[in-house]
Formats: sequence, C-alpha cells, structure tokens
Amino acid sequence: MADVVRSLPDEVVEIVHDLRAPLGVASGYLSMLKDGSFGLAPEEWSAPLEVLSLKLEEARVLVDGILALRRIDSSESTRMHDDHINLTEVARTAAKRAQPRARLLHGSVVVDAERSASAVAQGDQDRTLRILDNLINNALVYSGKGRRVVLRVEDADGLQVAVEDSGAGIPEERRVHLFEPFARDDGSTEIGSGLGLFISRTLAREMGGDLTLDDRPGAVGSRFVLHLRPADEQRVTDARSA
Ligand SMILES: Nc1ncnc2c1ncn2[C@@H]1O[C@H](COP(=O)(O)OP(=O)(O)OP(=O)(O)O)[C@@H](O)[C@H]1O
Ligand SMILES: [Mg+2]
Repeated sequence: MADVVRSLPDEVVEIVHDLRAPLGVASGYLSMLKDGSFGLAPEEWSAPLEVLSLKLEEARVLVDGILALRRIDSSESTRMHDDHINLTEVARTAAKRAQPRARLLHGSVVVDAERSASAVAQGDQDRTLRILDNLINNALVYSGKGRRVVLRVEDADGLQVAVEDSGAGIPEERRVHLFEPFARDDGSTEIGSGLGLFISRTLAREMGGDLTLDDRPGAVGSRFVLHLRPADEQRVTDARSA
C-alpha cells in the first residue's frame, strides 16, 4: 500500500490534502457537541458521538499518513510550534481525553508522574498530544481483557513519556517493521489503517525526539516510549519567574 500511495498522481494527493479542511471543521463541531457548547448532549448520545470521533480520527490518520508518505506537510495548520511542554500536564490531558474511549472498552488510563512532576520538554504541544493519543488508543485497543494503560512521565535517560499496557505485547518478528506504514497484523480483527505508529514516529522525530518500543524480555504487555528534548534551561527559568 505504501508503494500505491507513492505512485498516486500529484493531483490526487492535492485532493487528499484539501480533505483536511472539511475534516477539521467536522472535528471542531463534534468537539463542541461533546463539550456542551450547543447545550448539554443527552446521555444516550455519548456512544454515537464517540464513534463519530473515532471515525473522524481514522480519516485524519489516513489523510495524514498519505501526506506524510508524500511529504506534503507545509500548510499553516501543520506548522511546527516550539513550545515549552509540561509533560505531566500533557500526559494528564491525554489521559483525560481517552476516558470516554476507555469506558467504552471497559479499560482504564492513568498517569504516574510522581517522580518527575516538573519535567519540561521543548517541542510542539499539539503534536505531542496526538502522539500520546495514538499510543493510548493502540494500548486500549490491542491489549484485550483488563485493558489498563499507564502513562509514566520519566526523567531518567532524558525526558520521556512511556505508555504501558498489560496486553499480549508484540511478537519479536513484528517489531522490526512496526513503525513502517501499513504494518498491521494480518490476523487482526480491529479496524485501523496501520499508520498511527508511522505518523507518530515521524512527528516525534520532526520535533527532535523519537518514538521507540522498549524491549522488555519476560515483561507483560508493551511499552512505547516518546523521547523529547529537554527545554532550554534559561527559557524555563525565565518562564517560571515571569
Ligand atoms: N500496544 C500495542 N499492543 C499490541 N499490538 C500493538 C500495540 N500498538 C500497536 N500494535 C500493533 O501494531 C500495528 C500498527 O499500529 P498502528 O497504530 O501503526 O496502526 P493501527 O492501529 O493498525 O491503525 P491506525 O493507523 O488507525 O492507528 C497494529 O495494527 C497492531 O497490530
Ligand atoms: Mg493505531
């Protein structure tokens, strides 16, 4: 499929590119419906609204994946920001956004940031959130029964946020290709485009960080780690004393 995308005529890729605008508007209205901007949504709307969110996110992942493969990524909406990112705050926001999905799947998402509550990274906050959204969603979807996802903010060998699950893990032979586009498990019954990890790693690297899968022989589940650059010290001091 990656080859098919690479050989698409430019005109088609431009049309795909232009799909981002209507998708963005639809997502915006959906968020407003969910957050009560048009009045409190009845309880029975929450599951259909959640499905709509998921479907829009799937469309967005596909569009982004095609554009990432063709390296068309220069519009205003995707320009990289250089923020100071409070990692604990970002992890908590990502965990909070994942709660409806976790409830739907009878799982849980928690944050453990006790040892590095003040970790500040440098990069694009929205992109960091999108990466965490992807990782949390994978952890929830692919870990089956007992879906418990833990986000750990760590300041050990550099700043990082780890997303751990208690699922079946990823077999050795699939690990090499995991971050390639369309690298899905052929036997999987879950719906997905196989682009989430590819896009997430691309975004992480564009911010000067990386996304890796930890090798933990004998451990239960998977542990994906988002590595980020530490914020420029002087600017952190300035920001704190401002
Ligand atoms: N936490 C996880 N536990 C087990 N398998 C995983 C996990 N995360 C990813 N995978 C495997 O890696 C594959 C690729 O993941 P990726 O997020 O790139 O694509 P996807 O989830 O299939 O689709 P989407 O583009 O919608 O995210 C998945 O199909 C799944 O087989
Ligand atoms: Mg995914």
